[in-house]
Amino acid sequence: MSQAHLEYKDRVNLGSYYTPPKFVQLAWELIESSIDSQTAIIDSACGYGDFLKNYGQSVTIGCDIDEDAIEIARKNTDKVQFFRTNALSNVSREKFGIPQQSTRLIVVGNPPYNDRTSLIRHKIKNVDFEVDEDIASRDLGISFLRSYNKLAADFVCILHPLSYLIKQTNFRHLKEFTANYKLIDGVLISSGEFPESAKHTPFPIVIAFYQRDTKGMEYDYIRSFPFRIGDGLHFCLSDFDYIINYINKYPSKQHQPISDDSLFFWTMRDINALKRNRTFVQNYSNNTIVLDKSKLDYYAYVDVFKRNIHRLPFYFGNCDVPIDDTLFKQSKHCFISDTIRHHPYLEKHFQINPIEKEEVETELDKYFRLLLGKHHQCNKVFYDLKSSLF
Ligand SMILES: C[S@@+](CC[C@H](N)C(=O)[O-])C[C@H]1O[C@@H](n2cnc3c(N)ncnc32)[C@H](O)[C@@H]1O
Repeated sequence: MSQAHLEYKDRVNLGSYYTPPKFVQLAWELIESSIDSQTAIIDSACGYGDFLKNYGQSVTIGCDIDEDAIEIARKNTDKVQFFRTNALSNVSREKFGIPQQSTRLIVVGNPPYNDRTSLIRHKIKNVDFEVDEDIASRDLGISFLRSYNKLAADFVCILHPLSYLIKQTNFRHLKEFTANYKLIDGVLISSGEFPESAKHTPFPIVIAFYQRDTKGMEYDYIRSFPFRIGDGLHFCLSDFDYIINYINKYPSKQHQPISDDSLFFWTMRDINALKRNRTFVQNYSNNTIVLDKSKLDYYAYVDVFKRNIHRLPFYFGNCDVPIDDTLFKQSKHCFISDTIRHHPYLEKHFQINPIEKEEVETELDKYFRLLLGKHHQCNKVFYDLKSSLF
């Protein structure tokens, strides 16, 4: 079993979730053609060394902070230089004996992602190793990405949460990295495919292949990037319009006037959060938005959307709620009827006569199929290794 030598607490702290072999292979398919006899390959968070393959490069380097993992890696691999060290302190090529120039450096692997401040499993999180000030971040994965820039790697092919790229705040945190690297290929996989990961709400991971590029990349480049999802299909953020363009998703900083007639809605972050949270709520709290009633139809949309979330594949997990406003306007009475059926107290706020359940369901089914097209879950598009050479 992978990472079997670690207790649960240490797995969380070190972000030790080893990569299934089919994804290691996929990463190698991306970098293979960039390797020559002058190339050095490094995995600075190598675990048992599963990413350390030999494709004719001159040097292969494995590093991990976990002594036991390195011992196992030594037995698993051949012709690899190992370092039992913290990859995030005193980061430099010299640390690993890599020449400054003339050697093409490729980073490969699956660095840990561990948000040190998040509340999930907060009690057992205790990461206490040094991180160089210029690459420090509350998320270990972001520090690792910054460390590759410090190593001036020519190519970086690693697995990381898709949210690093598609959430604008995360993208901004990656500034030093995104100023010097450009995504040239990206394959989306589900965290649910990792043994021991949380199965109920899988999040999207990208096998990302970056090339060093002095022009770097802007967020708009990511918005229109065609991420591969298997079977020759792609997912592109800019193919959709999103609910953020219609309603307020977060509680406003200013004091909200609350009256007996106010309506409340749970804060929306992304699709995975919507999966866990409620929509309309009857009491005000720190996590609720006081609705602007002129936008009530759009909140009804999100409420209906939540009941149809099973239609979306995993890679929408960190996205905002997509909407096709023209189609929505055509079937609005069905959305509102569905919301009223689930929240009868809202009926008095809408000026419609609710429609029968059967008719509503047929119409909603049509809407979601048109909205999602090739991404609709019934047309399953899960990644299949056999078709990985698109
Ligand atoms: C997601 S696992 C990946 C292991 C292996 N590359 C694989 O994918 O099978 C992350 C690895 O990072 C290591 N790690 C965590 N913090 C580290 C640090 N500061 N320096 C070096 N390695 C670290 C952990 O011990 C763990 O082996």
